[in-house]
Amino acid sequence: MSVSQALDEIKIGGLGASRRRVEDDRFIRGKGNYTDDITLPGMLHLEILRSPLAHARIKSIDTSKAWDIPGVHLVLTGEMMATRNLAWMPTLSYDTQAVLATDKVRFQGQEVACVIADDPYIAKDACEAIDVEYEPLPAIVNPAQAVADGAPVIRDDKENQPDNVIYNWEVGDRAGTDRAFEQADVVSRLQLHYPRSHPSPIECCGSIADFNRATSKLTVYMTTQAPHIIRAAVALVAELPEHMIRIVSPDIGGGFGNKVRVYPGYVCSILASILLERPVKWIEDKSGNLISTGFARDIYLDGELALRKDGKILAVRMHADADHGAFFSDAQPSKFKIGLLHSTFACYDVPVAHLTARGTYSNKAPGGVAYRCSFRVTEAMFFQERMIAAAAADLGMDPAEFRRMNFVTDEQFPHRTPFGFLLDSGQYAKCLDVGLKAVGYEDFRRQQEEARKRGKLLGLGISTMTEPLGAGNSREYDILGIKMFDSAELKVHMTGKAILRTGAKTQGQGHETTWAQIVAHELGLPAEDVIVEEGDTDTAPFGMGTYASRSTPVAGAAVSMVARKIRAKARRLAAHLLEVSEEDVEWELGRFYVRSSPDRGVTIQECAMAAYSNMPDGMEPGLENTAYYDPPNLTWPFAVYLVTVEVDPETGVWDVLNIVAVDDCGVRINPMIVEGQIMGGLTEAYAMANMQFITFDAEGNCVGANYMDYLLPTAWETPGFELHSEVVTPSPHHPIGAKGVGECAAVGGPAAFVNAVIDAIAGTGVRNIDMPLLPDRVWEAITHRHDVSGAPPVRADD
Ligand code: CDP
Repeated sequence: MSVSQALDEIKIGGLGASRRRVEDDRFIRGKGNYTDDITLPGMLHLEILRSPLAHARIKSIDTSKAWDIPGVHLVLTGEMMATRNLAWMPTLSYDTQAVLATDKVRFQGQEVACVIADDPYIAKDACEAIDVEYEPLPAIVNPAQAVADGAPVIRDDKENQPDNVIYNWEVGDRAGTDRAFEQADVVSRLQLHYPRSHPSPIECCGSIADFNRATSKLTVYMTTQAPHIIRAAVALVAELPEHMIRIVSPDIGGGFGNKVRVYPGYVCSILASILLERPVKWIEDKSGNLISTGFARDIYLDGELALRKDGKILAVRMHADADHGAFFSDAQPSKFKIGLLHSTFACYDVPVAHLTARGTYSNKAPGGVAYRCSFRVTEAMFFQERMIAAAAADLGMDPAEFRRMNFVTDEQFPHRTPFGFLLDSGQYAKCLDVGLKAVGYEDFRRQQEEARKRGKLLGLGISTMTEPLGAGNSREYDILGIKMFDSAELKVHMTGKAILRTGAKTQGQGHETTWAQIVAHELGLPAEDVIVEEGDTDTAPFGMGTYASRSTPVAGAAVSMVARKIRAKARRLAAHLLEVSEEDVEWELGRFYVRSSPDRGVTIQECAMAAYSNMPDGMEPGLENTAYYDPPNLTWPFAVYLVTVEVDPETGVWDVLNIVAVDDCGVRINPMIVEGQIMGGLTEAYAMANMQFITFDAEGNCVGANYMDYLLPTAWETPGFELHSEVVTPSPHHPIGAKGVGECAAVGGPAAFVNAVIDAIAGTGVRNIDMPLLPDRVWEAITHRHDVSGAPPVRADD
């Protein structure tokens, strides 16, 4: 028998190759093509006038001075939008959102009017010349105020909306949970607030709408993570024919969930271009982005664990109060009103659970964005891991042991959680062991004891989590009724080079690199011979876009499936070229050969040439195909994050000593990119736990809508990380066994930091400090020996 002539998969850049990111060539040379880089002939510029008040009735808007400024082409107000039925737009959660305010403003920074002018400076000056008379109303800035007796009704524009409650939702077994609590030896309770946070991508939102009256075609270049959804939304809201709309999402400078929604700026630029028949560009500035777009979290969580005294969890009971801001505009599966919050405690073997959730309006910018998160799993996992730490402390148990004894075991997969999810696979205890060994757990505990005797506060925080990635199977997951599948189209040219297009849209995650690696794995085409294109609705197959780490589980699977379709056709071509029947043809990476005579073979490239030059009679020419992938289930990666800290009792400042991460995301397509994703996520987790502060005063003024208050960690502040990849549990239902990973560290990381600080100050009896753990809050907890809860207080003179 002859030796295999299969290609070396790593050499051709297939699965497991730490291939350099091909997109970085243009990014590091400053040659990226972002929305603001695009200039079209005759292009005008749009600027938005925003409300200075959080809640006020609009008495009048006088735009006459703005119209008089030379260079101004159009001034749009809500009243003018209303004549075209565009003053309000539908949200992705079956609510409505004002495009430009007509009756009232409902949050500080809300869009009130906009000006289209020759350049952005004229437009900005003209915005300032608009005279708006407001009648201030009391502001509501949290759920407690929203449901208080006599609270002003924020959404008085809506029929059948007598109060500020958006929904009451519940899931799980209430009676069974109550019964389990009656049997409990110990009940451990924790209340916390996950504060507002903001994705703050480096590139803000923006769009350039270009309506061509001659062809009736509307082209919009824009910062969207979901171009096809935007196309459908524009078709339905603006009543334009869908085939005459082209959405192009060029390079995106970070999305993190911020760029999923439809924003008023997009709508106004489209309407302005239609009215003026000129391209109209809107580029949001940083404060506009921070004050008005895509907030995340802002949720009050209250839960209890029913425990047996040996440490077994008997039940979970939980309530969530979510502050959605002025409009309920979450982009999330329709069926789940509070996203996937009920994925909480999924990695633990919990017999029974019950969750209630209430969503309320407030006078804040719309929230609920899944910032680097699968629809509230960040809140779910944060609560879970803070609760686990608190319960272990209440029981006097070691927190690692407490986790281990309650984990879903390897033998239990596929495992059904009490909230109905089906976990696909995992090796939780093994991951924990790797993490404990890496951090030197026993040694650290000894050092901690000794340090305490010397008045030094050391702490160790653990966070272990799984999360549902890859929304989702069409039985359960849809957005506004559109099922959540995804797609890939592969065209192999005659010389064996190929172009792959998917319905996803990379925003820095590296799809141009990794999707080509999947093709290399399936077909043996070198990854460098496959170009990847995403984001143009005129060319890409329909897809639901990139968010919630769904790309690898869904679009990535579609890439595998389309490559397999290509391979199936190539096999028939190979049989024809080798003059044997298809059953006699075997595949090894990059080549088909005759089973009985392995030296006789043809390469995949030879098959490609034959598809255009020498196909068998009756075969359709060409080598291209499309696959739509409806995932059978979500993928469930698992991770262990361990953080050690030292807290200075005099100042409340805490320093990170060590961070260990053990991520099991199944098969890694590109280990280097996965590590980059984990480091990025841990950096964001550290920022949320340590420094990010965006809140609202009693009048609803947004405090922190600038990068002096809302801090982004630079390389200087960011700690180092020790990453481990030795545990690999493939997803049994994904074609290449991969699970999503992009958001795991941002989801699971924050609890590890907070647990570490609380562990360091364990002797004080403090159970909770809400994020961010700013030094003054930690100092207050240590000094006064009490919990520090809620959004950071803003003094009246601040
Ligand atoms: O949806 P999104 O791209 O944000 O998240 P993801 O699917 O978790 O993928 C993030 C990046 O990591 C992509 O470039 C993936 O192809 C890559 N990845 C990987 O190489 N191996 C995995 N098992 C998961 C993701």
